[in-house]
Amino acid sequence: MDAIAVEPGTGEPELIELPVPEPAPGEALVKTLRVGIDGTDHEVIRGVHGDVPAGDARLVLGHEAVGVVEEPNGTDLEAGQYVVPTVRRPPQGTETNEYFERGEADMAPDGEYVERGIVGAHGFMAEYVTSPAEFLVPIPEHLAPLGFLVEPISITEKALEHAYATRSAFEWRPESAIVLGNGSLGLLTLAMFAKTIGYERTYCLGRRDRPDPSIDIIEELGGTYVDSRETPVSEIPAAYEPMDLVYEATGYAKHAFETVEALAPNGVAALLGVPGDWTFEVDGGRLHRELVLHNKALVGSVNSNRRHFESAIDTLAELPEWFLEALVTEVRRIEGPDDVAAAFADDDTTIKTAVEFASI
Ligand code: NAP
Ligand code: BGC
Ligand code: ZN
Repeated sequence: MDAIAVEPGTGEPELIELPVPEPAPGEALVKTLRVGIDGTDHEVIRGVHGDVPAGDARLVLGHEAVGVVEEPNGTDLEAGQYVVPTVRRPPQGTETNEYFERGEADMAPDGEYVERGIVGAHGFMAEYVTSPAEFLVPIPEHLAPLGFLVEPISITEKALEHAYATRSAFEWRPESAIVLGNGSLGLLTLAMFAKTIGYERTYCLGRRDRPDPSIDIIEELGGTYVDSRETPVSEIPAAYEPMDLVYEATGYAKHAFETVEALAPNGVAALLGVPGDWTFEVDGGRLHRELVLHNKALVGSVNSNRRHFESAIDTLAELPEWFLEALVTEVRRIEGPDDVAAAFADDDTTIKTAVEFASI
């Protein structure tokens, strides 16, 4: 079968041939339909994040997948059922640990998990994949064509749950929110703000010139585009307004610190980016004082668990059709090496690409 793999750091994903995997007891065989590509895949390809499985030179990519059960193999799943796999699994050679037993693998520390397609385990960019049934979340047939968006939406479900939890000790009524980053995660989150959560005022930060499809989406959602080249994050309150909620999805490390200045008193920022090492100066005293004197919170958030995937399926069903059509700029059928190169080529017209292994 075809699979898309990378030798991290080479910068070039390749089409490779692998045997169809055999499901172990408790696992189902899934025919992969579509797999989304995000900023993390590009970070893995560049070799700045993630790792190959132990003893392997290459990593099969892909962590945002939707597929259909081909062989339930004695599990509770049914043949023909559409499913979305979660990303984390127990480390190689182990069955489970306390985080997986609690259904909170997203809170596991390093060494207590692998991530399919990212760290230490092959991903879903292959014609067939196997997975324990407990990590396959059923999705209704009509949502299956866009089922590869469930994983990234689940990332925001989790991050917002944690952000809100930090504000749960008092009466907090957020009215303004900004997403830092106009990539696919940022735009999905803005759409969740605009259409399902509903802050009165929403903003999204980028660094693009008009005309640009991501700016069109921001404005169509009713948001205000903020250009970081004109308005640095720390100057957002002066140029626009202080933000009750900030959602960082740029992976630009300075934003984590500048965000403290962008927050309104009692505000919270969720940090999602995964930057490489970068040494720069920060006024630590000012940062510390701002956090304390204005009851501000910063919360980092990674991955998501099955519960967030289930909420994400409901959210996907609520997002407007025009938005989803504009967001998914390409679904590329993988028939040869050129399709792989084209799918991973990144330019300013690309927002969300999915690779397709089989028709729905
Ligand atoms: P992406 O497509 O690379 O999007 C990042 C966006 O941020 C790009 O549109 C980029 O603009 C913009 N940006 C970067 N630096 C900027 C700056 N200084 N000013 C304004 N805009 C800036 O990535 P993604 O898939 O949306 O993911 C976003 C980040 O979240 C990545 O770091 C990814 O690794 C991370 N992530 C984390 C989790 C988690 O569980 N924590 C889950 C998914 C993704 P240009 O394109 O114009 O350069
Ligand atoms: C994935 C998460 C993963 C994170 C860190 C993200 O792109 O969506 O599932 O935990 O990267 O590797
Ligand atoms: Zn991702």
